[in-house]
Amino acid sequence: MPLVTTKEMFAKAYNGGYAIGAFNVNNMEIVQGITEAAKELEAPLILQVSKGARAYANHTYLIKLVEAAVIETGLPICLHLDHGDSFETCKSCIDGGFTSVMIDASSKPFEENIEITRKVVEYAHDRGVVVEAELGTLAGIEDEVKVSAEDSSYTRPEEVEEFVSRTGCDSLAIAIGTSHGAYKFKPGTKLQLRFDVLEEVSKRLPGFPIVLHGSSSVPQDLVAKINKYGGAMPGAIGVPEDQLRHAASLSVCKINIDSDLRLAMTATIREFFALHPDKFDPREYLKPARAAIKEVVAHKIVNVLGCDHKI
Ligand code: G3H
Ligand code: 13P
Ligand code: ZN
Repeated sequence: MPLVTTKEMFAKAYNGGYAIGAFNVNNMEIVQGITEAAKELEAPLILQVSKGARAYANHTYLIKLVEAAVIETGLPICLHLDHGDSFETCKSCIDGGFTSVMIDASSKPFEENIEITRKVVEYAHDRGVVVEAELGTLAGIEDEVKVSAEDSSYTRPEEVEEFVSRTGCDSLAIAIGTSHGAYKFKPGTKLQLRFDVLEEVSKRLPGFPIVLHGSSSVPQDLVAKINKYGGAMPGAIGVPEDQLRHAASLSVCKINIDSDLRLAMTATIREFFALHPDKFDPREYLKPARAAIKEVVAHKIVNVLGCDHKI
């Protein structure tokens, strides 16, 4: 099976009351950990690549790794550009074999966001590629851009119909209180996602797939393990998984998770070196790191996304 777009997976997810996991990939072990979990659980999958990932690992290496995962697993896998920052970046990924791109012009004024998104949509649709766009601004850190909580803004439901009809985008990322990175909210914060905003958006866009970014839950056992073995991560909490599960049962069809995989990998490698200071073969520490990613992804598929056995 070749790489697929999100068209069919989102239609099924919307009607089935579950969401597809979109996990960020940067190297072979991450691709393997994610796809091994998805294969065992028969889960459709989105593997996403950021601008930073392309700079780190190189476009061709990443696309070949994902193609290898398709061959090895036989799963329907969509290869998606995460947070495309310009028409040129999107074009390069569309020309280079991605089946989905995000154009993130959410920091731009409404009209400018529409203009750039529409340009990407026209180019993408002519080539069979789907487009995710964003309205509203999440707090947190992505690609070294830091957005403070004060500068974040919830999506305005009254803007979504015009935005979607004028751009022709295939899915829409909205801001309802999630946040990028591992330092989302202060410990003790009672986070409540704005389901009223989600509901209002969904009412105005019936049947239309909604996307949530910044959806790592920052497992406290992983943070504790990192700190136990020499790390110095300040306390922070993530997005409660039960709220994400609820969102997945509504119109949210794609949930983005990256930080939790980073925490799993780093906690495992820190522990490995603390327990085996004499070891130096990368395979010996990357193997348990890959297994830790698999475990996190399996947990998300079953408990957060609900997309197990959906292929
Ligand atoms: O939202 C951003 C993702 O976590 C990707 O992060 O830009 O550091 O690769 P990155
Ligand atoms: P997290 O930092 O919460 O994992 O979010 C990832 C993300 O939104 C990628 O686009
Ligand atoms: Zn994101």
